[in-house]
Amino acid sequence: MPPSFLEMAVQHFDRALRTVAGVAQEGPANRAAPDADAPQGPGPSSGETQHIGRLMRVNYAGEVAAQGLYWGQGLTARTPEVAEKMDTAASEEQDHLNWCIRRMDATGVGPSVLNPLWLAGSVTLGAAAGLAGDRWSLGFVAETERQVMNHLQGHLGRLPDTDPATRAVVEQMYLDERSHAEWAEGAGGERLPFPIRAAMTVSSKFLTNGSYWT
Ligand SMILES: [Fe+2]
Ligand SMILES: [Fe+2]
Repeated sequence: MPPSFLEMAVQHFDRALRTVAGVAQEGPANRAAPDADAPQGPGPSSGETQHIGRLMRVNYAGEVAAQGLYWGQGLTARTPEVAEKMDTAASEEQDHLNWCIRRMDATGVGPSVLNPLWLAGSVTLGAAAGLAGDRWSLGFVAETERQVMNHLQGHLGRLPDTDPATRAVVEQMYLDERSHAEWAEGAGGERLPFPIRAAMTVSSKFLTNGSYWT
């Protein structure tokens, strides 16, 4: 028997709580964490460790927002195929959440207290994108992923060479985000107008700065 609406609502709520709190969860892929086999390196200094932890807290917050966008877009998708794709994409991103948690744990830095805000805001934004129609919604995914790629590239420039384990995680996330962007573009995503792209860049600055410090 398929789950009732109430059961599904409880499941989603449970998943949302774990996501904002930084609790690792099983995903459909459950790939091995890229840092597991990375060379250890000399190890970062204590000052570097806190910086690395905060960068990974930012990346975790970005993944929380990505979950919210996918959930919101899935809720208002015009076709069941796109709704299902959004749901699948959200579960596939679970690896990224789990890998960020591993790196935060390694540095002793916890998740951002602002995560509930990012999640709620991005569900709303995702639902609005979904209402605009599937081609715009897919374009929104593509643009989000492209902006995340730029952001991760920036982190690769800021992460010290003394911590190859964290670099391995960020490098794999970059490659995954690129394939998500290519999927959304290949599935018919429209390029978003400049003002929307610019507004997305500005709001992502709030997320990155806010999550680095809190
Ligand atoms: Fe991701
Ligand atoms: Fe992604």
